[in-house]
Amino acid sequence: MARDPTIETTRLDDDTGEEALRPQNFEEFVGQTSVLDNLRVMARSARIRETCLDHVLLCGPPGLGKTSMAHILAREMNVQIHVTSGPAIEKKGDLAGILTSFSEGEILFIDECHRLNPAVEENLYPAMEDFFFDLIIGEGAHARSMKLSLPRFTLIGATTRAGMISSPLWDRFGHVARLSYYSDEELRVVVKRSARILEIPISEEGAFEIARRSRGTPRIANRLLRRVRDYAVVHERDQIDADLADFALEKLEVDRAGLDYLDRLYLEALVVKFGGGPTGLDTLSSSIGEEKETIKEVVEPFLLQQAFIQTTARGRMATPQAFEHLGVPISPSQKKLL
Ligand SMILES: Nc1ncnc2c1ncn2[C@@H]1O[C@H](COP(=O)(O)OP(=O)(O)OP(=O)(O)O)[C@@H](O)[C@H]1O
Ligand SMILES: [Mg+2]
Repeated sequence: MARDPTIETTRLDDDTGEEALRPQNFEEFVGQTSVLDNLRVMARSARIRETCLDHVLLCGPPGLGKTSMAHILAREMNVQIHVTSGPAIEKKGDLAGILTSFSEGEILFIDECHRLNPAVEENLYPAMEDFFFDLIIGEGAHARSMKLSLPRFTLIGATTRAGMISSPLWDRFGHVARLSYYSDEELRVVVKRSARILEIPISEEGAFEIARRSRGTPRIANRLLRRVRDYAVVHERDQIDADLADFALEKLEVDRAGLDYLDRLYLEALVVKFGGGPTGLDTLSSSIGEEKETIKEVVEPFLLQQAFIQTTARGRMATPQAFEHLGVPISPSQKKLL
């Protein structure tokens, strides 16, 4: 069969680059305890009942472990995982091609599943629910529809924008798991684990300093660990300690609250230029020259979680904490608004 360009079959023993840092099983997956508990029970039950896993939707901001979790579930169920993304499946024929090539029980992982083409999504409904696919054969007056039965499969969807998943699709997932930002302590464990794999000597305090400045996100923690390692190498330090981590992170423009350049650009615009708001997303987006999508998916969720901003019906508003963090005094008129 010709190789389908919309799909990539991941080898589970891939061990290069970022892949090497991915947690390989439930035990290695740090944090997210209740999400983990529920998925573990689901997988175990499916194995005992010798059936395939029910469809799962994984929601949460970028870099929190959705893709890693999908691979862990595949390994746990001992089945192949086929990876694709919403926008990559252009036609419903693509979807038919993918699903008919599956063996019983395999996993289709659709990343960015809030970006599925509506025509494709509609065909996913009967496939998810009853494992068949409606095919139209012939054209015009001679066209007739045929039901193509599919092997049972599991759909694992991932999305950074849960609110954009249509309700018919949402309803067909047997379980929705929401990943949330990690605590500093959980990220310290992630940093220690990655340092061990990458053979980077690091002290407990060094790991904690990186952890608490990683925006609650394991992917960022791993990235900062690598960058701080560069400073250790160049400055001929034999391990990363808190001082070196602090020094390197200052240079990397990651501040003490873990805000990076883009977070601060956004917050400074809201606080300084717009006096704390309320300001619309469009205005903020053009003011800092950043896509609305990036602001909504990457910047705002963390600032909201850290209570630096609030979203109101009239627009985005900075909190007194944001003023304090930027060292900007609040005027009496602003105080009344905030
Ligand atoms: N719970 C965890 N424990 C340890 N490491 C983790 C965990 N979650 C994520 N990571 C690390 O963070 C990296 C990014 O995770 P992953 O690719 O699974 O995130 P994602 O949610 O799929 O992100 P995106 O929305 O951008 O696709 C992984 O390669 C892994 O090294
Ligand atoms: Mg991912």
